[in-house]
Amino acid sequence: MKVLVAGGAGYIGSVTTEMLLDDDHEVVVFDNLERGHRKAIDKRAAFRKGDLRDKDRVFKVMADFKPDAVMHFAAYALVPESMEKPEIYFRNNVVGGVNLVEAMFKADVGKIVFSSTCATYGQPEKVPITEDVAQKPTNPYGESKLAFEKVLNWYHELHGMQTVFLRYFNACGATEKFGEDHDPETHIIPIIMQVALGQRKGVKIFGDDYKTPDGTCLRDYIHIVDLAQAHILALKGNYSGPFNLGTGTGYSVKEVVETAREITGHPIPAKMAPRRPGDPPCLVAGADKARKILKWKPRYGDLKTIIQSAWNWHREHPRGYGK
Ligand code: UFG
Repeated sequence: MKVLVAGGAGYIGSVTTEMLLDDDHEVVVFDNLERGHRKAIDKRAAFRKGDLRDKDRVFKVMADFKPDAVMHFAAYALVPESMEKPEIYFRNNVVGGVNLVEAMFKADVGKIVFSSTCATYGQPEKVPITEDVAQKPTNPYGESKLAFEKVLNWYHELHGMQTVFLRYFNACGATEKFGEDHDPETHIIPIIMQVALGQRKGVKIFGDDYKTPDGTCLRDYIHIVDLAQAHILALKGNYSGPFNLGTGTGYSVKEVVETAREITGHPIPAKMAPRRPGDPPCLVAGADKARKILKWKPRYGDLKTIIQSAWNWHREHPRGYGK
């Protein structure tokens, strides 16, 4: 298939592009390189620089390439930033998304696979979180992703567009070529990798007084190769609606630190720190729907495998993609 990957220079978009190409699809990456990296674009893909907020540019690229489907990863994704500047989240993640889907409709492109997030659930009413759990985001980031899910629902309803939204839990890990490089970095695994590389003195554990087995937060860490696989499966059938993507197993922050010590051989000094505002104690996916309907089977769910792959990439790319 011909696939336009919006945000293909970012963390999850770069790996999905790599896997689409491995699977013999033709890919055009559309990215503004504001937070993504030129070096993260697979050399086999075509590249069109552009910003989703620039409607004319989006329309032109869509009309020129006429893809069979779009994958949409191009969004801001920092929760704390969204609390300070909600307007940039709504402009980029919602208005930009509307430009994309309108351009698709105009160019007669009938399928989109959209990167959504477990942040649309907020503090979930029950765990494991299944797709029918009420969506009550607790920050503008989650709200902006939920708003775009609703836009897509209407394009499905009104125009029969196939609109899949994949709600990721904690994306992590790397392939040999592509890995995680954010600035600023806020995610636990890359922060720990920077400690192991000697670039940070230690890691702060945000809260050890949660009602969880060891007092630290539980998260469902899902390898990006498994995420990318789910996108490719979603592309191949006639699906619409939400799918949670996680392994169904929660690991605590302390377990992540301990496993990283084992893998890297570095002591990873860890200090207890106050809770980070807005952190739910436990986010674990009920992902049976993706397994049953998409026939998705996460293969790299084991925490050791995940951290080993992240460590391999960070060791090879100690400064990420560079400036
Ligand atoms: N943590 C620390 N120290 C750090 C960084 C993180 O203890 O220096 C803890 C957090 O408090 C949390 C866990 O590690 O308990 C994981 O934190 P991350 O920042 O790695 O990931 P989040 O669970 O906060 O974020 C993920 C996605 C977001 C999404 C969010 C939904 O990365 O995009 O889940 O809550 F919005």
